[in-house]
Amino acid sequence: MSDRHSLRLEANQQKQGKVSWLSPSNLAIVKYWGKHGRQLPRNASISFTLDKAHSKTSIAYQIKSDSTDSDIKVKFRFHKEENEAFANRIKKFFASIKDLFPFIDQLEFTIDSENTFPHSSGIASSASGMSVLALGLCDIEQQLFGTLSDDSDFYTKASHVARLGSGSACRSVYPYMASWGVHPDITDSSDEHATVFQEELHDVFKSFHDDILIVSASEKSVSSTAGHALMEGNPYAAARYQQAQDRMHDLIIALKEGDLQSFGKIAEDEALTLHALMMCSDPSYMLVEPNTIAIINELRAYRHETNHPVYFSLDAGPNIHLLYPDHIKDEVVKFRDERLMPLTTGVCIEDQVGTGPKKLS
Ligand code: DP6
Repeated sequence: MSDRHSLRLEANQQKQGKVSWLSPSNLAIVKYWGKHGRQLPRNASISFTLDKAHSKTSIAYQIKSDSTDSDIKVKFRFHKEENEAFANRIKKFFASIKDLFPFIDQLEFTIDSENTFPHSSGIASSASGMSVLALGLCDIEQQLFGTLSDDSDFYTKASHVARLGSGSACRSVYPYMASWGVHPDITDSSDEHATVFQEELHDVFKSFHDDILIVSASEKSVSSTAGHALMEGNPYAAARYQQAQDRMHDLIIALKEGDLQSFGKIAEDEALTLHALMMCSDPSYMLVEPNTIAIINELRAYRHETNHPVYFSLDAGPNIHLLYPDHIKDEVVKFRDERLMPLTTGVCIEDQVGTGPKKLS
C-alpha cells in the first residue's frame, strides 16, 4: 500500500514512461449540489456512467534533469493544440495533490487530451477530464512503485483523486452506476470517494439510453463551483440535503427492482430541484432556456399519450438528458426526431450507460 512507501523516486529508478486512459462523463440522477471542506459533498449522489461522452488522455512523463527544481512542470495539448490555460489549471491541481503523489514534483509531464463529445457542445468536461487525469496518475504510481496493483486500491485512489479535481468526477471511474457520499443504504459509502453500484442494479438500467439534446452550446453564466458555493447561503439548503438522502433511499429500491416509474419520477424531481435551488440562491440565476421547458412539456405530453417510460434529467445547464430503456428505443427516437429535435440546436449525442474507463495501450 502507498502509505508504507515514500513514493519518492530514487536516482536509479525508471526515468520515463507513458500512460493512456479513456474515461467517461456521468449523469447524476440524485444530484451533488453543495460542498464543504476539501471537496466533500453535503449529500450523497448517484450517477449513470456514460459511454460516448468521454475523454482520452495520455500522460508522458520523465524525471526532471534538475532534482532541486520543485516547480510543477506540465505541458498540455487539447486536440493537438497547446493550451496554456488548461496547463495552468492542471499545474494547480497537481500542486494540490502532492500529498497523494509525492513524486509529482520530481517529474515533468506532457499531456495530450481529447474529448469525443463536440467541443463547445455545452457538455461539462470536468468529470471525464479530471477522472482521466486521476487514472493516469494512479497508473504512473503503479508503474514507478508497484503500489496500486490491487484493483480495488487503484480505483479507490483514482476516485479520491478525481474528486479533488472535480467532485462529480469521482463517480466516473466505475461502470454502470456509482454513488458518492455517506448513505446508510450503501455499504462502504464514503464522502472521500465513490462506490460502484453494479451488482444490485437491475439489468434494465445497464443498457439505459441517455440522449443529450443540445438546447444551447454557450458557456454557462455561473459555474458549478460557484453554484455549490451559493448553497451555503441558500435558506432551503438543510431541507434539500435531507431530501437528497431520502431520494437516494427511494431510488436505490427502484434501481434494484427495475421500477422505471419511480426511477423517472425521482430523476425529473431532482433535475427540477437543482434548477429551483439556483433560482432561489442569492443572487438568483437561471440556466434553463425557454426551449428546455418546451422540451419538458412536450416529453410529458408524449408520456401522457403513450405511457412510455421516457424521462428527462438536467445537468447544471440548459441541455436535456432524455432517459429511456432500450426496449422502446425505436419509438422514442422517432418521437425525439420529430418533436424534440426542432427545439434544439440540431445536435444530439446518442449516449447510453457504459462500462467505465479503459486503459489504452
Ligand atoms: C449538477 O462536480 O462540476 O452536475 O466539484 O465544483 O467541480 P465541482 O462541481 P461539479 O458539480 C456537478 C454538479 C452536477 C450534479 C452532479 O453531477 O452530481
